[in-house]
Amino acid sequence: MFAAVVTTFGSSPRYQEFPAPVPGGNDEMLVDVLAAGLHPRVRSQADGSHYTSTGELPLVPGIDGVGRGPDGLVRYFVLADTTVGAMAERTVIDTRRSIVLPDGIDPVAVAAAMNPAMSSWVALRQRVQFQAGQDVLVLGATGNAGRMAVQVAKRLGANQVIAAGRATDRLAALPALGATATVLLDGDADITADRLGHAAADVDVVIDYLWGEPAAAAMTAVLTHRADRSRALTWIQIGSVAGRTAPVPSAALRAARFQIVGSGQGSVGTQEYLAELPGLADEIASGTLSVDARAMPLAHVEQVWATAPDATQRIVFVP
Ligand SMILES: NC(=O)c1ccc[n+]([C@@H]2O[C@H](COP(=O)([O-])OP(=O)(O)OC[C@H]3O[C@@H](n4cnc5c(N)ncnc54)[C@H](OP(=O)(O)O)[C@@H]3O)[C@@H](O)[C@H]2O)c1
Repeated sequence: MFAAVVTTFGSSPRYQEFPAPVPGGNDEMLVDVLAAGLHPRVRSQADGSHYTSTGELPLVPGIDGVGRGPDGLVRYFVLADTTVGAMAERTVIDTRRSIVLPDGIDPVAVAAAMNPAMSSWVALRQRVQFQAGQDVLVLGATGNAGRMAVQVAKRLGANQVIAAGRATDRLAALPALGATATVLLDGDADITADRLGHAAADVDVVIDYLWGEPAAAAMTAVLTHRADRSRALTWIQIGSVAGRTAPVPSAALRAARFQIVGSGQGSVGTQEYLAELPGLADEIASGTLSVDARAMPLAHVEQVWATAPDATQRIVFVP
């Protein structure tokens, strides 16, 4: 079969022949891949930088996708950590880590949306005691996951959803998806902090895709503007596009009822993720969550990989 194959970390995967995997245990199934998303997590898998990387090569990247099995059913699947991923004509799935999709659903839309949408869906449903009526700040709202987080927060009953990001045009599109206010994270640091502090002073939950210096600055901004520092604030660390480490001010954790929790593979167990798949797939199938996907032939993987990640559309490879 043909697949996207990484033979050296730091180089784009190449479209070449690769031995087809063979299903082993009772729950394994060989599927024809219909669509596989190029998420940031897949890029870090392919360059060996993800915290789950074992350094083993060659590697076919792809952590999830949509495929058709020998029974004719179309499934969304999440792969366990493997070197034979979803960016191939065929892959082996564990049916326990998959769900059968409704008839007529667009495989490209599902492959594009599940990973970015799952980040906030699972965080709000599994990692914090989120309640309808609470206020949410999405920090780094202009990427694929951030745009989904705005919609997911609204769908799960948030009252205010404040969307903060640095791309003016993409920020402007967020009220149509449910943001009640937007904050531009650009320009003078003091003015940005003041803007953010005023807009988001009294939120209950922050969904943070940035981390790094911007997240630390945002913590100070929100907490210093807070009317009541005994009101609980839960900061959910999900992405780190602005830095892998952040200089979190110690006083923030002492002077306010403030906690930081992470949400991702490991802090959320496999069973907890799997339990959320059907509900989220239904939301995508019914069109509740708006998805912006671009299908590309898997044969073009090398050229597509070398272009800068697109925060407006999730690329989905179609074998
Ligand atoms: N833990 C989980 O479950 C989980 C699941 C999915 C994703 N994630 C993580 O979440 C993050 C976002 O994923 P994604 O799918 O949304 O990626 P994406 O579509 O590539 O979007 C990334 C966004 O980050 C913005 N950005 C980058 N640096 C920034 C900065 N310094 N300040 C403000 N905005 C900045 C980019 O905007 P510009 O155009 O302005 O650069 C872009 O809008 C990644 O770290 C990803 O690994 C985690």
